[in-house]
Parts: sequence; C-alpha cells; structure tokens
Amino acid sequence: MTTIYLDHAATTPMLKEVLVEMTAAMETVYGNASSIHTAGREARKALDEARAILAKQLGATANDIILTSGGTEADNMAIFGVAYARKHEGKHIITTEIEHHAVLHACEKLERQGFKVTYLPVDETGRVAVSAVEKALTADTILVTVMYGNNEVGTLQPIEEIGELLKHHPATFHTDAVQAFGLEKIEVEKLQVDLLSASSHKIGGPKGIGLLYAKAGTKMDSLIYGGSQEKKRRAGTENIPAAVGFAKAAQLMAEAQPKTRKAYEQYKAILIEEFTQAGIEFTVNGNEEHMLPHVFNVTLPGTDVESFLVNLDMAGVFVSSGSACTAGSIDPSHVLVAMYGKDSAALRSSIRFSFGQGLNEELVRDAGKRTVNIVKRLT
Ligand SMILES: Cc1ncc(COP(=O)(O)O)c(C=O)c1O
Repeated sequence: MTTIYLDHAATTPMLKEVLVEMTAAMETVYGNASSIHTAGREARKALDEARAILAKQLGATANDIILTSGGTEADNMAIFGVAYARKHEGKHIITTEIEHHAVLHACEKLERQGFKVTYLPVDETGRVAVSAVEKALTADTILVTVMYGNNEVGTLQPIEEIGELLKHHPATFHTDAVQAFGLEKIEVEKLQVDLLSASSHKIGGPKGIGLLYAKAGTKMDSLIYGGSQEKKRRAGTENIPAAVGFAKAAQLMAEAQPKTRKAYEQYKAILIEEFTQAGIEFTVNGNEEHMLPHVFNVTLPGTDVESFLVNLDMAGVFVSSGSACTAGSIDPSHVLVAMYGKDSAALRSSIRFSFGQGLNEELVRDAGKRTVNIVKRLT
C-alpha cells in the first residue's frame, strides 16, 4: 500500500537538493565560523552566504537575520526579548487566541511575571479584526504579536494593515510566519514588521534551525549568553550545514512558489470534489479569501477525530487534527474553540490535510477516496 503524507504543516521531508548540499557541507565545512584560520573562514563564508539567501527571501538585509534553533525559539526570543528589554516603558502585550503555543505559552509565562496580555478573539473564519488591535492598544503596550498564517486552519491575518496601524504607535510588531515562509511572498518592509519568525523544517529544510528577522534598532534582550555569535543576540557555535540546508530549501521554495501554490489549490479542489461526489457531509474551516495554500482543514460531522486519525493511518493516509496530541489523547483545538466556541461539535470531528513537495494529483485523489471510505464506515 502506498502511504500518502499529508501532514506537511507539522513537518516536511527534506528536499533532495537540500540533502545534497548539507552532506557536502558536513563533509567539507567543519571549521568554527569564529576561528581566524582558513577552515574557520570557509565556515564563515558558508554561513554568510546562507544568511544572505535567507535575508533575500524576506527583502531584508543579512545583518537583520538571527539564526535560531527553530520557530519556537524565534517566537520566544521575540516575545521575551522585547518584554524584558522594554519593561520599563510598559508591560502590556497584545496577541490573539489562535497563536501557536510557542507564542501563547510564552505570553502566559510573562503574565505570571507581572505583564498584562490581551488575547484578541477571532471571527468564525479565524481572522482577527484590525479594529480590535486598535482598540486594545494602550500607552502601556510594548509588543503586538499576531501570526501571519494559522497552522491549524490556514487563515491569514491582516498583517500589513496591522503594520500600518502600528506606524502611529511605539509598540514592537512581531509576526510568526512559520507556516507562511516559503509559500507566501513576504516583504518585511511592506508589512512594517519589526520581528518575524520562520522555521526550516516546514519547507523541506532540516529540523533544528529557524530564524528571527529583527529590524535594525529593535530593542530586544538576548535569551542565550556566551560567545559573540549572531552579533551577540544568540550565543553558541553556529550549525553551518543546517544553515546551508535552510537557505537551500528557502531558495527552492521561492523559485517554485507560483507553481506550488497552483498545485496546492488544485489539491484542495480534488479533495472537495471527492467528498462532494461521494455525498459525504463536510464543511471547510478557515477563511476562503485569506488562506495559506497548503492547509485544508475540514469538519466531517459524525466522525470522532481520534478513531478517524487511527483509521486513516491504517489506510496509509497521514494527516493530523491540527491540535496538540498529549500522551496519546487529543486536546480540543484552541483555534477551533476560538472560532466556534467550546461546545461546538466541530471540535471532535475536524482534521487537517496539509500539502507539500512530492505530492501529485493522483496521490491526493487517492487520499480523498480512502478518506471517503473511512467516513462512510465510521458514520
Ligand atoms: C505557526 C507556528 N509557529 C511556531 C511553530 C514552531 O516551530 P518549530 O517547530 O520550528 O519550533 C510552528 C510549528 O508547528 C508553527 O506552525
């Protein structure tokens, strides 16, 4: 039986070209980028090149890119970094109810340390209103952190409009673009963000590396102390092969972006067609107009997410509920709770298909048919 991996929003297999470049880097670039001898200088060169490629994808300059261990660390660096650096100016933070836990749990920790956090609600499509951000702003607000695109339902947030709003307010603006990086055209200047997080393993790069774009002059404390790496913003010897792999993945994704977006649009249409033709009941979650291309979250009434996912797994279709899986049990998704309320039946019967490189229309159609068979059996 062919297995069909449709969980690319969780993580992606590494792209072949990335593996090739990383293997070469692991074999040849062994120096410490801080060393002044030739081996060190070669490592520095590889690192500089990777950083420049990553910066280019965001319309940023290389100096503004801080390499981290992934999206989680980038989010933590942005939130704790700004909170600690600006606590004397104010202690209020604005975020949304549908952020990734890398943001939400960081904010909750800050609340326990005396900061005040406003968690903005979203509408039924998972979108926050710019007017709600405006209303929540006070003279005490030092940070606004709103995700670019949601990892569970795919809804895009009005980042450019919030950026425009914050032109007239001194709060630092951070966006978690972990799901959007590589699939959306992102230009930090156009968005008017001060900080932006991205991660390598969501785009066919290696796990364990990500980045925080930090606009020059952004006030932010370091969270890791040691050497002078990353311009003293994040100490520790750099992982050059991972940086090389991340940059290669970002470059390939950027080149393929128009084709990829079109293909994923088609995959969504195929799944909808399969479900419709089979006559099963379903509703698509998220915002039709403002959507990440690779996320397709659907409610299939009458199914129970846990047994549904197990059955899909046995049928070789790897998808996810989009929400946290703790010790084998699935907590209701905080994103769907924010969209539909805690008593909604959708909480128990929604799953997320997410697309990536290596798929084709036949595989997606096959996955759709296998899904339909299971839905018919379970409902
Ligand atoms: C929106 C979002 N933010 C942050 C993260 C965390 O990124 P990482 O896995 O690189 O730590 C993820 C990963 O699932 C995500 O989807």
